[in-house]
Amino acid sequence: MAAANEAQEAYWNDVAGRTWAALQDRIDRQIRPLGLAAMDRLAPAAGETVLDIGCGCGDTSLELARRVGPEGGVLGLDISAPMLEVARGRAEAAGAHNLAFREADAQTAALPGGRDAVFSRFGVMFFADPEAAFANLRRSLRPGGRLAFVCWRPLPENLWIHLPAEAAAGLVPPAPPPEPGTPGPFAFADPDRVRRILAEAGFTGIEISPHDEAIGGLDLEGTVGMSVWRGPLGAILRERPDLAPVLHDRVRTAVSPWLRGDAVYMPSATWLVSARNPG
Ligand SMILES: C[S@@+](CC[C@H](N)C(=O)[O-])C[C@H]1O[C@@H](n2cnc3c(N)ncnc32)[C@H](O)[C@@H]1O
Repeated sequence: MAAANEAQEAYWNDVAGRTWAALQDRIDRQIRPLGLAAMDRLAPAAGETVLDIGCGCGDTSLELARRVGPEGGVLGLDISAPMLEVARGRAEAAGAHNLAFREADAQTAALPGGRDAVFSRFGVMFFADPEAAFANLRRSLRPGGRLAFVCWRPLPENLWIHLPAEAAAGLVPPAPPPEPGTPGPFAFADPDRVRRILAEAGFTGIEISPHDEAIGGLDLEGTVGMSVWRGPLGAILRERPDLAPVLHDRVRTAVSPWLRGDAVYMPSATWLVSARNPG
């Protein structure tokens, strides 16, 4: 494996990858609608070939495989061995014969050419050199081939993460905000940066539109559990497990107002991005 994204490779093969693998069903329930919004924009057709970049545990790869049908094919690419293990198990259980997975860095991997489409649900914000990565992805597309992905807008607009994170205020010193553009979930929060990267990588027809949707679907305790197991709160609890009771209480208070019936739904804010390979 190339060393281009060594830190991310370590991260997604260690605690993050194992956490996502363990919680994937619940994570999918939360973010599935956002991936489907990007997939509708991609509009994969029967018989097409699609790459799913940063496919993780394969939820979107399976849906893409369903949409392209037995005459089409999907290749899911990821750097996380534990997440790919889940993805392969799911594909086997589903009998998806038009779906394969490969452990590789999308920035540097030699990709198959002539693909109809490249897709990603939150898997393209982690590249050390995003221009090089997207140029690599573009070269895998046939002339006229399409790209579509979904990525996060700024953290404060994503109340579903922001409010639980704020609940930890005062318990531990706040982590310094990442430098804008540093690889990570919010690296593509600035749409002008995304446009520049894609243009430099040779894409045309770049369209970036905001998508706002309340997401969740877990009950109150499930939502509290998810909020404290992953992301910034997960990192705090790994350092200070003694804070678990107070953090749970604070997060429960923060998310309770968003309980609708027996499930919590909170605002999310994403960009739906699409572009074309001119050839
Ligand atoms: C936020 S997770 C999203 C996973 C999946 N797309 C989903 O929505 O469930 C980001 C994924 O990108 C993968 N990733 C990060 N950098 C990558 C790279 N350079 N090449 C391939 N995959 C990468 C991670 O291993 C992880 O699975």
